[in-house]
Amino acid sequence: MNITVIGLGHVGLVHAAAMAAIGHDVIGIDSDRARIATLLNGEVPFHEPGLSEEVHRQRRAGRLEFTNDPHVAYSGSEVAFICVGTPALPNGKADLSAVEAAARELERSSAPGGLVVVEKSTVPPGTHELLRRLLRADMCVASNPEFLREGTAMTDTLNPDRIVVGTDEAFADAVMRDVYSTMTDSGTRYVATSVATAELAKHACNSFLATKISFINAIANLCDAVGADVSQVAGVMGSDPRIGPDFLEAGLGYGGFCFPKDVAALSETFYDHGIVEASLLLQQVQRINRGMIGHVIAKLTRYVGLLPGSRVAVLGLAFKPGTDDTRYSPAVSLARTLERRGARVSTWDPKVRNVEELHAKPYPDIYNACRGAKAIILATEWDDIHRMSFARLADVMDGTTIIDARNMLSDSERSRAAAAGLSVIGVGQGEEVPACAWI
Ligand code: UGA
Repeated sequence: MNITVIGLGHVGLVHAAAMAAIGHDVIGIDSDRARIATLLNGEVPFHEPGLSEEVHRQRRAGRLEFTNDPHVAYSGSEVAFICVGTPALPNGKADLSAVEAAARELERSSAPGGLVVVEKSTVPPGTHELLRRLLRADMCVASNPEFLREGTAMTDTLNPDRIVVGTDEAFADAVMRDVYSTMTDSGTRYVATSVATAELAKHACNSFLATKISFINAIANLCDAVGADVSQVAGVMGSDPRIGPDFLEAGLGYGGFCFPKDVAALSETFYDHGIVEASLLLQQVQRINRGMIGHVIAKLTRYVGLLPGSRVAVLGLAFKPGTDDTRYSPAVSLARTLERRGARVSTWDPKVRNVEELHAKPYPDIYNACRGAKAIILATEWDDIHRMSFARLADVMDGTTIIDARNMLSDSERSRAAAAGLSVIGVGQGEEVPACAWI
């Protein structure tokens, strides 16, 4: 089939490559001319394992093209996936201006004759009504939410747990079943719903996962207060199949471009519909999440002392391992908060080259970042951290404290750290922190 993908960010570019990989002819369009030039030059503008290889493979096979020209992008297109950004406005609601602009362009530039326009970007329930108003009567609307995770985006997209397609039109339903027939033929579950259901299901998934993380982080804070161990509590909870073990890792909290904005947007949607208690629930989820930065800093001041002038090394800046994405990264918020409180902060990340909000660029080498540090905070669970030498670390540091803000070190790593004279303090492992931890 002829498919157009509008918006070539983390979701759009991966989706375009995946659609080509399952045999479709795909053309990607983006309003950012520099991004198209980069892609036409054979480069992928961000780090995502396997993506660059897949893009090259599909370009060589002649199934994947990029353009800035709407007429080229939409001529002959049967399905157009809208994958543009939907960032949070200052009031927490989703900014749909890029979705609107894409719909107007589709209305102007596409040929008549049954184009199926698909919302792939995460949008609030009801956005299909806006699209309906903006598109021509001969066009259909569907919602096909994306469940990929950064860092494993290519594998997630090519091997999804389920394909969710919401549409209220029989023609769009038939077309979308064709789009995914290769995957459904090999056994992937296809969930057909109304458009509103598909839109809401995506928000429900992200907010539920974020709630799970904030819940375990609240338990971690209680563990610190009462001398319990959050990893064991999470193990007990996770072994109940009704709860499940995933997304129960306590630490610095969730970040990235999806969870923070999606939780805020669903909270606003609840409020708009008068379901105030649920709006407040999600506000508390966000508060607990932000509070984890203060909780970790309180541990630091308790174990290392006052911050002004002290050198602190933050290891990891990406919002999670496997990506160079620092948008809404708790690691960056932590480093910025430490800077604001007067600490001299040095950072390291294997993929992130610069973060504008921070005073200094990250070091490409862990030991240089930790030189002279009173304390080190492990902020993103990169594998390189497991390979570091605690003896070398102890040599270059000026102090002896490692705050494991992601509970990533194993018991044997902790023993090796102890043998090198370093003490490791985790999150929710029974170390009491003062109540003023909340910021
Ligand atoms: C998330 C969802 O997991 C995807 O299903 C969804 O498609 C995507 O958002 C989206 O809406 O586009 P992603 O943002 O890539 O994917 O990252 P996750 O792997 O979900 O992690 C989000 C954050 O939660 C990270 O900062 C991670 O460190 C944190 N996290 C995750 C925890 O703090 N604890 C956990 O147990 C799990």
